[in-house]
Amino acid sequence: MDTAWKDKLIEAALEARKMAYAPYSHYCVGAALLTREGEIYQGGNIENASYGATNCAERTAIFKAVSEGRRQFRAIAVAGGLEGHAPGDYSYPCGICRQVLGEFAKGDLAVIVARSKEDYREYTLDELLPCGFGGGSIR
Ligand code: THU
Repeated sequence: MDTAWKDKLIEAALEARKMAYAPYSHYCVGAALLTREGEIYQGGNIENASYGATNCAERTAIFKAVSEGRRQFRAIAVAGGLEGHAPGDYSYPCGICRQVLGEFAKGDLAVIVARSKEDYREYTLDELLPCGFGGGSIR
C-alpha cells in the first residue's frame, strides 16, 4: 500500500471521527475502508443509551460498504480519541470488529491505526486476528 493511499485513508478516518455519535463515552472513532476498486467508505461509532447496542466505527464502515455490494477490501484506517481532541494514542479495532473484518477481508488486509497522517502503525489482519474462526471452520 503506497503512501499516497495511506495518507488519503488516514485523512478520511480523521474526517469520519467528526461524525461519531458518542454522547456516553465521549470517545470518538473514525474508520475509512478502502475497497478493491479504490472507493473509500467512512464510518464513525454510533453509541446507544443501551450501551450494548453501540456500533463501532469499523463496523459502520464495513456494513455501509457491504450493504452497497462491496465485498473486497484492501485496507482500513482507524483513528480514535476523546471528543474535541486529536487522537492521543493508537485506537485498535476491538475483537468484534476484527472478527467482522475477517468475514469480508483476507488476512493480508492492511489495518492502519493512526494518531495523524505522520504518526501511524500498520498491521495485517492476520497479525491482529491470528487463528481466527471463519467460514472455513464450519465446513
Ligand atoms: N469503539 C469503536 O468505534 N471501535 C473499536 O474498535 C473500539 C471501540 C467505540 C465504541 C464506543 O462507542 C467507544 O469506542 C468507547 O468504547
